[in-house]
Amino acid sequence: MPHYPQSRLRRLRRWPWLRDLVQEHHLRTSDLIWPVFIASGAERESIPSLPGVSRIPLSQIAAEVSQAADLGIRVVALFPATPHALKSEDAREALNPDNLINRATALIKAACPSIGVLCDVALDPYSSHGHDGLLYDDYVVNDATVEILCRQAVVQAQAGCDIIAPSDMMDGRVGRIRSALDHAGFQQVSIMAYSAKYASAFYGPFRQAVGSAASLGSGDKKTYQMNPANLEEALREVELDIREGADMVMVKPGMPYLDVVSRIKQQFQFPTFVYQVSGEYAMLMAAAANGWLDGPAVMMESLLAFKRAGADGILTYFARDAARILG
Ligand code: PBG
Repeated sequence: MPHYPQSRLRRLRRWPWLRDLVQEHHLRTSDLIWPVFIASGAERESIPSLPGVSRIPLSQIAAEVSQAADLGIRVVALFPATPHALKSEDAREALNPDNLINRATALIKAACPSIGVLCDVALDPYSSHGHDGLLYDDYVVNDATVEILCRQAVVQAQAGCDIIAPSDMMDGRVGRIRSALDHAGFQQVSIMAYSAKYASAFYGPFRQAVGSAASLGSGDKKTYQMNPANLEEALREVELDIREGADMVMVKPGMPYLDVVSRIKQQFQFPTFVYQVSGEYAMLMAAAANGWLDGPAVMMESLLAFKRAGADGILTYFARDAARILG
């Protein structure tokens, strides 16, 4: 590369059209997956720590999702706010074919068949202790949990779910879920594994949204979610999930973990997704509400940064707002 003054990198920054011409990465509406919370009652419920995000009742879910589809959103991720009375030690409501998430899935697929539906597989929205698996002696046990997760995945596929997203971080669950889906005739249902999911404090607002915060209390998920200090371990998690049959892998949270996204994409060249989690959204929204940051600008910048890091797509509570700007 020639040096200054032959080379002037500012030359290509001179005009908007020129900057656009040499832009390396692009954000498209089809990159976005919109997470939606389902309310158990008849009313919409706002979530104080997630301004602009509501829990949507079943009666409104199909209309809400078709409006998002009109903006160009192609995939939604559903999360149920299970009523407290239905939560139990063994999280059996997760296996109910008529539970909130399965009813929402069926309603969405009936009203907008061309919209993809992604459902989490994990027990935390259904367990009285707020953990993602079964608790014995205060420890989340692996293999017994995996058995239930397999049944949860099949029930969700029966309701019409297109993408099963295990978010529980149990060992071996992707392979077992793949076989369970195949045996039940769901060879076409894909798996997006939350492969590198960290034990993060950025999930706070989500746990309020699904009501697992109170159940979890002062507990944490550090015996199954990853230590935020680790990167090599993330590569091992991803490698195992790919070998077990994951179709797509995910990193979560997003913004503080861009190095993880980048390493995974470079090493595996595999469909790689990132979850801009509730705490990231809350942080940007709070600063914008105070006038400390330009909300739309930081939203678009943060989403584009995920693409630059190597993500193929992004789960984000900003999906609709970003889609409106992308036009
Ligand atoms: C449940 C799950 C969590 C999130 C997605 N699925 C929370 C957790 O693991 O405690 C977090 C999403 C967010 O914060 O937006 N297993």
